[in-house]
Amino acid sequence: MIPFLAAAAQAADEPPPSRRAELLNMIRHDCGSCHGLTLAGGLGLPLLPETLAGKPPEALQETILRGRGGTPMPPWQAFISEKEAGWIVEMLMKGLPDAR
Ligand code: HEC
Repeated sequence: MIPFLAAAAQAADEPPPSRRAELLNMIRHDCGSCHGLTLAGGLGLPLLPETLAGKPPEALQETILRGRGGTPMPPWQAFISEKEAGWIVEMLMKGLPDAR
């Protein structure tokens, strides 16, 4: 494949850089208010790569989009798309870029 097209295809599932920054900020602040600022857990479960390892990404994506009934985990589908939720799961599973 032409290198330019390959790069475009690879980037297709990633939010554009400006939206990525917004989403990362949301993860730290909004998700962090329950899951802990370092995502190590609080009211919500830890969302660290080691605690998420082995869990099915589709189920985690579903939890983010629709929330988890009977728990304080709220649905986020009004704020993020399905693809963005998938990207968030990917980021959480490999560790946020600025994770401390
Ligand atoms: C109001 C508090 C609250 C906020 C805000 C919140 N969560 Fe949660 N979240 C929870 C709770 C509580 C659970 C655990 C539910 C349970 O007991 O199964 C949870 C569970 C989860 C899970 C499943 C973890 C697992 O190991 O199964 C994921 C993934 C998750 N949250 C991601 C997020 C993301 C991403 C955001 C921000 C977009 C977010 N949460 C915001 C409270 C919250």
